[in-house]
Amino acid sequence: MKNKLELSEQNYRYLFENASDAMWVHDLKGNILDGNKAFAKLTGHTREELIGMNILSFLISEKSRYTAREVRRRLLAGEEIEQPYEQRFIKKGGTEGVMQMASSPVVIDGEVRGFQHVARDVTEEKQLQENMRFYVQQITRAQEDERKRMSRELHDEVAPHLLLVIQRLDAITSNPRPRLPEPFKARLEDLHTRVTGALETVRHFAQDLRPRIIDDLGLVAALEWMAENVSKDYAIDTQVKVLGQEQTLPDEVKLLLFRIAQEALNNVRRHAAASKACVTLEFDEGRVVLTIRDNGKGFELPQRMGDLAGIGKLGLAGMQERAQLIRGKLTIHSEMGIGTTVTVEAPI
Ligand SMILES: Nc1ncnc2c1ncn2[C@@H]1O[C@H](COP(=O)(O)OP(=O)(O)OP(=O)(O)O)[C@@H](O)[C@H]1O
Ligand SMILES: [Mg+2]
Repeated sequence: MKNKLELSEQNYRYLFENASDAMWVHDLKGNILDGNKAFAKLTGHTREELIGMNILSFLISEKSRYTAREVRRRLLAGEEIEQPYEQRFIKKGGTEGVMQMASSPVVIDGEVRGFQHVARDVTEEKQLQENMRFYVQQITRAQEDERKRMSRELHDEVAPHLLLVIQRLDAITSNPRPRLPEPFKARLEDLHTRVTGALETVRHFAQDLRPRIIDDLGLVAALEWMAENVSKDYAIDTQVKVLGQEQTLPDEVKLLLFRIAQEALNNVRRHAAASKACVTLEFDEGRVVLTIRDNGKGFELPQRMGDLAGIGKLGLAGMQERAQLIRGKLTIHSEMGIGTTVTVEAPI
């Protein structure tokens, strides 16, 4: 029996030594008792150096120390903690890294004697994510700038010319002298109708590209304007509600929330077959919550948002990306035959 146990201990030792994840054990004071090769690689220290070092020498920032204290407190109290969790740490030489780790108490004879941890270096992944976020942010900004420029050009340059043509045609056709031959007059009137139609289209287009109302009157007015259009043009009774004390939001937050609502309402009108929709903007202590709800047919949510983007459906994925740009969180809840709710929660 003893031999068997020793054998299994040897096996565990082998697993410990050669695991690709970093593993280490420290006592209640944080002094490291043991660590594997991957732990040495993660920290940049040799294994000999590591033994006896205190775990706090890797945790420099106030935030990482706070996290460590919280984890310790909860594990000792027997509470659940969210695992794995992220922790920033300092490698040998002073560079900062991020690890994803899981921790548990070491219990001997019914008493907690220390803690053991498993961790993976996710520094590069985090950096990549951050770069990606920055990249998306730059693209989104460039896109919005471009839309604004085009919208302004249409509104300020194209529309006035069309208006002038309409006025001139009006002047010609309404003037009794010289009296125009009927076929000629009819042709001018036809031109009038066409140019008026074109002006309408240009104005619509300019508004869609960048509703001026959001810059002039703010998010709530812009949402109300959009809801009115949806109600009028698609016969979906769409309401806007504002809850809590309205606060001024930074321009970027305003715009991104508006774009999310726009995309969500596009989905409502294209897919939901709903008769009602409601856009709610709720201001709360330090956060704003935007909700777009419909009473339509609902749909089956994909496992991952990326699955949709992979087949060219970019609406929901785009909403999620926009939410992340303002450090917000997007959640979608949909129930067959009941409807769909899209919620974005963002810090102010
Ligand atoms: N409010 C909704 N009600 C019912 N189904 C919805 C709703 N919103 C989204 N869906 C479903 O989810 C799918 C994905 O939506 P998403 O906005 O990502 O793509 P899309 O609208 O099909 O295309 P895109 O937005 O890129 O033009 C839709 O095709 C539709 O089946
Ligand atoms: Mg869509």
